[in-house]
Amino acid sequence: MHNIALIPGDGTGPEVTAEALKVLEAAAQVGGFTYDTTTLDFGGERYLRTGETLPDGAIDDLRQFDAIFLGAIGHPEVLPGILEKNILLRIRFELDQYINLRPVKLYPNVETPLAGKGPEDIDFIIVRENTEGIYTGMGGVQYAGTPNEVSTQIHCTTYHGASRCVRYAFELTRARARTNQLHLVAKTNVLTYVHGTWWRAFNEIGDADFPDITRDYAHVDAATMWMVKNPEWFDVVVTENLFGDIITDLGAMIQGGMGIAAGGNVNPEGVSMFEPIGGSAPKYTGQGVINPLAAINAMQMLLDDIGEHAAAQRVESAVVKALESGRFESMSAGRMGMSTSEAGDFVASLV
Ligand code: IPM
Ligand code: MN
Repeated sequence: MHNIALIPGDGTGPEVTAEALKVLEAAAQVGGFTYDTTTLDFGGERYLRTGETLPDGAIDDLRQFDAIFLGAIGHPEVLPGILEKNILLRIRFELDQYINLRPVKLYPNVETPLAGKGPEDIDFIIVRENTEGIYTGMGGVQYAGTPNEVSTQIHCTTYHGASRCVRYAFELTRARARTNQLHLVAKTNVLTYVHGTWWRAFNEIGDADFPDITRDYAHVDAATMWMVKNPEWFDVVVTENLFGDIITDLGAMIQGGMGIAAGGNVNPEGVSMFEPIGGSAPKYTGQGVINPLAAINAMQMLLDDIGEHAAAQRVESAVVKALESGRFESMSAGRMGMSTSEAGDFVASLV
């Protein structure tokens, strides 16, 4: 029995979560496994109602689950930063979900903005460090609101943090067995201290334990050029938190956009959380027009994480079949050629 926490969240989050659940149910029936879900109401609505982001004990409660599914967090009436820091980042940090995993895979019949590129060219995965870098919140503001205002936001890298992330990426590269090539993306020419640590971890771990994996390096600015011009060069990319945040949105666009892109906040030794990466999309809320494929892909990653590999494969095949059918007119909200719920039913029927 798998115990899954659901945080449907804000905006279109609940709509896409419902569709991902249809697919989970179909996968469980075919795959013969059982699961239980517990819905938690964390998000902007709850915050506006009660002033509370994560209630006391919420993190410890989350630790009891096998995995967490997150719809979306983000509310137009809540100031930026509050929900992000107190819900999303807090879960990432306190559950030590030190890997942010973002597959960038172009499925058949999905339009990419990259001219002349197809599914054979776009199939890589970004391993973003998820608990350090500039996201730790170290730093502060002095003389705020005056002409002398001084602000710092410290980029914090630990050898421990860089190495566990790099090791995960090496192992993933080996497991994918595609090109056996791992790219480190950083800025070693300017961030000589923090990315010096990354460079050291990358090379020491590679030399010691992964002689079969070829190491490649790109500065982040150049990497954004190559991802657009030659996405076929990439198999696995490992990078720090902020650069990962930026290049994974680029990755999401080249795989067809927020309608299809999913990610996982992974603690390989603990509880992980999977989410469509598109956000709460307030303007589409309640209209039944949002694309649930990203949420379904997130559920597919969750299934893989909890050890239901065959079911995960079946869900991915169902997504591919649904796309191959040509019935999806587009990945964009409102232009799919069917409603959110029809899209979920369609994919579930193919599992
Ligand atoms: C993401 C998001 C978050 C991040 C925000 C919402 C804090 O952009 O998951 O990529 O910056 O990590
Ligand atoms: Mn982001």
